[in-house]
Amino acid sequence: MPFYISEKLLEKHWSAKNHLDELNELGCTLLHGINVKDMHEDNFLKAMRFDRIIFNFPHAGHDPALCERDEELILRHKELLHGFFSSARCLLSENGEIHVSHRDDKPYNHWDIRSSAEESGLTLKEMVKFQKNDYPDYHNKRGGGIKSNKTFPLGNKSFIFKFSHKNDLEDNESVSKVYIDDLSMDFSNLIV
Ligand SMILES: C[S@@+](CC[C@H](N)C(=O)[O-])C[C@H]1O[C@@H](n2cnc3c(N)ncnc32)[C@H](O)[C@@H]1O
Repeated sequence: MPFYISEKLLEKHWSAKNHLDELNELGCTLLHGINVKDMHEDNFLKAMRFDRIIFNFPHAGHDPALCERDEELILRHKELLHGFFSSARCLLSENGEIHVSHRDDKPYNHWDIRSSAEESGLTLKEMVKFQKNDYPDYHNKRGGGIKSNKTFPLGNKSFIFKFSHKNDLEDNESVSKVYIDDLSMDFSNLIV
């Protein structure tokens, strides 16, 4: 697949070029303009199945008229999560996992990420404390329309929520919280 860097992406994240070059050199396929709510309909992706599908800090975008505590904005975040889980589930391999990094403090815990995943036939397998230091050179960015290249606070209750197909986990009451991440790369990963 030919490698090109979208102008729009560079406008939003002027510092992205080096990372994209590196990913390209490592043999990653880079796709632009994918909507996480309908990834499963994308001509390139729909024939593939992934062992890991990763979405770090989903956010439906800022609205100058709303703050993060407002129900209307929370609903938009919930819709994004629901759309993402429904679509990602279609692309997940049999024993695959969907990983979402997300803050588990107020008001972000009102997004109710666990229920959203369950509605899409997924179940929470594990929660791992998100330690930014585990990811050298990763700088979390706001994305969206304004201040897109700026970072945002992760607080001290950010986790990686790991979901699998519901029937992969018979006893979903034994969800474990662990603090060491498995950084193994022997997987087919889709990172959005
Ligand atoms: C808070 S930012 C996190 C960005 C990046 N994942 C990180 O960890 O720094 C939320 C991201 O979700 C993306 N996003 C929101 N809705 C989306 C959608 N429907 N499809 C694809 N990406 C979406 C935004 O473009 C933005 O980049």
